[in-house]
Amino acid sequence: MTKKINFISLFSGGGGFQIGFENAGYNCLLSSDIDADAEKTHHKNYPNIPFIKKDIRQLDYKEILKATKNIKPDLIIGGPPCQGFSAMGDKISSDPRNELFNSYIK
Ligand SMILES: C[S@@+](CC[C@H](N)C(=O)[O-])C[C@H]1O[C@@H](n2cnc3c(N)ncnc32)[C@H](O)[C@@H]1O
Repeated sequence: MTKKINFISLFSGGGGFQIGFENAGYNCLLSSDIDADAEKTHHKNYPNIPFIKKDIRQLDYKEILKATKNIKPDLIIGGPPCQGFSAMGDKISSDPRNELFNSYIK
């Protein structure tokens, strides 16, 4: 049997990316987002997958590994806020969310 690829989902929002990856056969170890409604949605749809409600700038790898029971993810997925870049957004260069992709990379 082929081992499933484990992933964690950052900026997970309503879980759209997560559904896509799970439908493709990947295994979600953990989701995280700052938003309380994202947390509620996650708990309703995925009661057995841990969720950390936190500002990504405060999230560290020790907390992630604790939640995944020390399983290291093969993959990290996430959709950082794009309002400052998207053609559909306001493109405000001083929007502090424009910097959040740095925490995603970190
Ligand atoms: C483009 S949406 C992600 C949508 C998600 N990929 C999906 O499939 O539904 C960006 C997400 O970033 C979250 N977010 C914004 N600021 C954040 C921060 N400082 N730390 C963590 N998440 C944050 C928002 O709550 C929002 O859910």
